[in-house]
Amino acid sequence: MGKGVFIVFEGIDGSGKSSCMESVASALNNANVIKTAEPTDGEIGMLIRSVTNLTAEAEALLFVADRAQHTHRIKKWIADGNIVLCDRYYASTLAYQAASLDGNKVDTEWLRTLNDMVVTEPDITFLFDIDPEISIERVESRGSKSKFECLGYLKEVRGNYLRIAKERRFIVIDASKPKEKVFGDVIGHIQKAVTQG
Ligand code: TMP
Repeated sequence: MGKGVFIVFEGIDGSGKSSCMESVASALNNANVIKTAEPTDGEIGMLIRSVTNLTAEAEALLFVADRAQHTHRIKKWIADGNIVLCDRYYASTLAYQAASLDGNKVDTEWLRTLNDMVVTEPDITFLFDIDPEISIERVESRGSKSKFECLGYLKEVRGNYLRIAKERRFIVIDASKPKEKVFGDVIGHIQKAVTQG
């Protein structure tokens, strides 16, 4: 079987990336589509959700450790010829953990070095870019706000994301557009990548 494709969906909470990824999976309607996400539902991912009072560095290390385990599986899925759709990957750590939360933020270069040691570069990364003033309203209407979802913090996260997107040639999607338009843009890029092999 030929080499698969690895596609990542990034963006702040409420950007619509996760529901767009679901729509992409349905539209591709292909037995070789694998949906996955970070933090994972593996042991380290569950630990990230349950543990409290971590330092910012310890938390960052857990996200990267979860990713190291996950990447091992992702590489196998790609080698087996699958289309791997992943909700969040290394850019989440570079964007979120390098922004200041409760006065703490983690050194960007340290985060880059750690991530570079464990990741495999995706074929495509979409950044769902949106003003946090809009995304936060969406999140509040879902009633599921986490510690990562306050406005000032998300503004900094968005700035980090846009910088990384420029450096690493992510495809930036205007996520404030209607979801049909967003989906159309995303699926267009994916179909091109999948048919070009
Ligand atoms: P989720 O809502 O997409 O499941 O992600 C859970 C939260 O974890 C989200 O607010 C972003 C945050 N996060 C990080 O801060 N760093 C990371 O590396 C990842 C993967 C997620």
